[in-house]
Amino acid sequence: MTQDELKTVVGRAALRYVPLGEVVGVGTGSTVNKFIEALATMKDQIRGAVSSSEASTDRLRALGIRVFDANEVEELAVYIDGADEIDGQGCMIKGGGAALTREKIVAAQSRRFICIADESKKVEVLGKYPLPVEIIPMATQRIVRKFAALGGTATVRLRYDNPLVTDNGQHILDVTGLSIRDPLAFETEVKQWPGVVEVGVFAQQKAAVCLLGTSGGVQTLNF
Ligand code: A5P
Repeated sequence: MTQDELKTVVGRAALRYVPLGEVVGVGTGSTVNKFIEALATMKDQIRGAVSSSEASTDRLRALGIRVFDANEVEELAVYIDGADEIDGQGCMIKGGGAALTREKIVAAQSRRFICIADESKKVEVLGKYPLPVEIIPMATQRIVRKFAALGGTATVRLRYDNPLVTDNGQHILDVTGLSIRDPLAFETEVKQWPGVVEVGVFAQQKAAVCLLGTSGGVQTLNF
């Protein structure tokens, strides 16, 4: 199976975690796009969704799924989203699609994070994938130096030769050269640096379940 086919398979497999009659948390990215397509087939059986990005909101609405503001819903049973990397404990790197801050907000208001990913995302240690960090632009160079002190190289993510601007109006740093052996400690430390809006390590909001698309079928990893 191609990577795209694996994404389709796990996107469909996630339907069994969708709580009937409730609002579901929906992430962002190419794997979630497959899930959104599958979710449309049962849109009459859910109340709607809370979305983690403008892109997912547009897709959900285009398929006739009602999108609630996060403030309209106190708690969600599940949040379904992809990952750029996931380790053996369910900790993840996320933010390849620049939506990490809203993703962490919706994950935090959900009881269970269901990660959907193809097998290329499974790693022993987080950090091979460049770590996305959403930052306030005036703090850029200070945060670049902070990562350099940890052995990382941080660069501003560009779009059409200019800094990419997130849904929250901020910038993204992508950090290479890190080996994140204690994701919770790393997330806690970076999160408190002034100017960091959010860090793309999800240890506090780690996955409860990962549906991993492999050539042998969908593996269910429980953490
Ligand atoms: C979006 O900001 C990310 O966190 C995505 O969840 C992550 O990049 C996975 O995306 P794909 O499903 O496109 O690989």
